[in-house]
Amino acid sequence: MKLILLGPPGSGKGTISERLEKDYKLYHLSAGALLREEVAKSTTIGKDIKAYIERGELVPDSFVVQLVKLDAKSKPNYILDGFPRTLTQATEIEDLNIDIVLLLDVSEDIVLERFAGRRVCQSGEHGYHLTHLPPKVTGICDVDKTSLIQRKDDNPQVIKKRFQIYHKDTALLINYYQKKKLLHKIPANGTPDEVYQNVKKIINQLNKNK
Ligand code: AP5
Ligand code: MG
Repeated sequence: MKLILLGPPGSGKGTISERLEKDYKLYHLSAGALLREEVAKSTTIGKDIKAYIERGELVPDSFVVQLVKLDAKSKPNYILDGFPRTLTQATEIEDLNIDIVLLLDVSEDIVLERFAGRRVCQSGEHGYHLTHLPPKVTGICDVDKTSLIQRKDDNPQVIKKRFQIYHKDTALLINYYQKKKLLHKIPANGTPDEVYQNVKKIINQLNKNK
């Protein structure tokens, strides 16, 4: 199964992907994580990407498409988390034959509260929330045991910019995938368990109809 997870910043794309990866054996391909890996390499291109991310702007389409396609190439089943984010990116991946697009439908005030408590491990792969999804040991990642940190782009000014861009560029994809009859809106204001149950219902239905 090839699945796209669409939703505003902080809507829970990473959190849901971690669970789907475990339960459905889907490879979790996060565009943001791939880009942060490039930044960590400190190459010239990595430095450019860092500037885009820290401003809360989208990295140029051609680069992201190339990076994602290369990573998805050898995998039969995956979740695209945070990709595509523009109409150009979406048209560039028509050939991947996506099975389903899930839109995490969450209100903005709830997301802002989630951001304030978000913590991630050093690799950024595992996410937590101080009150909604705390780690077993305070400040330490359950999986890789590294200390938890706040993402650099999780500050109010950059979050505001990320939201503006979501509404300007990414929200256009809702209509795009609706027309293709691939889009399912997932009520996502509830707890992580409630949201995940809503996601599972749709995926299990799709698997049953195959
Ligand atoms: P990216 O890393 O993808 O950031 P984002 O889209 O802004 O989304 P987040 O990762 O911040 O949130 P999330 O939806 O994963 O929520 P999470 O599960 O963590 O992208 C970063 C940057 O990279 C972009 O700004 C851009 O510069 C660049 N980029 C990435 N993709 C690109 C692309 N395709 N093209 C161009 N540039 C690109 O949850 C948030 C918090 O809430 C956590 O603390 C979590 O524990 C908690 N939480 C989750 N669900 C719930 C719940 N149901 N109830 C309570 N708390 C919850
Ligand atoms: Mg994420």
